[in-house]
Amino acid sequence: MASVSTAPTSARVVILAAGKGTRMKSRLAKVLHPLSGRPFIEHCLSQAQRATDAPPVVVVHPDAVDVQRSLSGRCDIAFQTEQLGTGHAVRMAAAAAAGASDVIVMYGDMPLIRAETLRQMLQTRRASGAAVALATLITPNARGFGRITRDKNDAVRAIVEEVDCTPEQLAIQEVNVGLYCFDGAWLWDALARIRPNPHKHEYFLTDLAEIAISDGRSVAAVVTHDQDEFIGINTRVDLADAEAALRRRINREHMLNGVTLVDPATTYIEVGIEIGMDTTILPNTHLKGATRIGAGCVIGPDSLLQDAVIGDECHIEKSVVLESTLDAHVHMGPFSRLRPGCRVHESVHIGNFAEAKNSEIGAGTHIGHFSYMGDTDCGAGVNYGAGAITCNYDGVDKHRTRIGAGAFVGSDTLLVAPVEMGERARTGAGSVVTKNVPADALAVGLPARVIRRKQ
Ligand code: UD1
Ligand code: CA
Repeated sequence: MASVSTAPTSARVVILAAGKGTRMKSRLAKVLHPLSGRPFIEHCLSQAQRATDAPPVVVVHPDAVDVQRSLSGRCDIAFQTEQLGTGHAVRMAAAAAAGASDVIVMYGDMPLIRAETLRQMLQTRRASGAAVALATLITPNARGFGRITRDKNDAVRAIVEEVDCTPEQLAIQEVNVGLYCFDGAWLWDALARIRPNPHKHEYFLTDLAEIAISDGRSVAAVVTHDQDEFIGINTRVDLADAEAALRRRINREHMLNGVTLVDPATTYIEVGIEIGMDTTILPNTHLKGATRIGAGCVIGPDSLLQDAVIGDECHIEKSVVLESTLDAHVHMGPFSRLRPGCRVHESVHIGNFAEAKNSEIGAGTHIGHFSYMGDTDCGAGVNYGAGAITCNYDGVDKHRTRIGAGAFVGSDTLLVAPVEMGERARTGAGSVVTKNVPADALAVGLPARVIRRKQ
């Protein structure tokens, strides 16, 4: 067991993720499938981290090395070698979580559970003094879930797994979502008393409800209503459902914060993206990674921003921005692409079919049409004509180009790097520039000659 922290703590979250996940039909471990751009176990982990001070404990199979690598350093890891059931899996966390006053158990395939709900479980357990608080959901689609049975006083009596349900119990609409908070002083001994289920030969965690009652302790129920929060991922169909539900949640939050989403159903914003007030996101726009967008922008339609930082009042239309920073009032698109490493200053205009990478583009520069700018320091107020290209790669090395402020790069100019144009330097259309052009000078290429045909 790899331990991040050994300090005695009050509440610990245990995340169960040792299941095989065979129904995903994938070479990738189930919990590493991406949801909103990151392995879905990350969502469980970050909510658990928000809910409690101590690092979570994740129970994994020892062979799941990719999972362990992706978790490494951010939680305690406990191993379950044989999948003997959810009750057995929690026991595997005993060494890591012993001494905790409360143990919250969640399943690693439910990545939409929120920190607020975890905290509510903790509060309910403590306020009630129950041996266990469990989250239940009232749903007409109870299939696959354990059912909650209650006594005549409406107190929870047991969780009955579907395999064990009588026909009457199958009709119960209150289900066990699979989220619990246990009294840490009671849990470990009680786990040792679970007997294997006669049908499935597994140790069911859910048996702890009955064990608590036979110990004279109570079971508290936190009745929840948001079915989306408890989507469990077993197949890729569930994964798509979870993606859609998380997207609705994220989009709703942005709209409530003052962002207009013209069509939320086709707006794909990953978790953790910041967007300023009065920005409008048009359909089929994807915002990914560590992207931040200022206020009053219009982004989209059909745009992809990955790790992009966008200033206020920018307009990005049908374009791609990757790992680049744009200051305010930049207009870009349609059909242009900024590859990693661009720093675009205020009021730059990038029109259609332009590509730039690893370049600084000075304020107010115009890059109108059909062009490439790579590894370039371009000053302010430059006119970069249609078809202009920096030839930054000689087949072996990349070289830089410098374009001074106020320069005029004529249409179809080829700037063969390394090369420099001074301030206000100009090139004629079609120039092939291999030597530096001094400030205020004009460089012209080969004009076409007219050849008259003999009559
Ligand atoms: C469980 C509950 C059920 C509840 C349902 C909600 C039990 C016995 N039943 O059933 O009442 O309605 O969740 O989705 O708990 N895992 C391990 N090791 C194991 C077995 C499971 O780590 O040996 C992990 C799995 O990776 C998974 C989670 O525990 O993340 C849940 O296990 P699963 O077998 O899917 O339980 P369900 O049959 O869904
Ligand atoms: Ca499940």
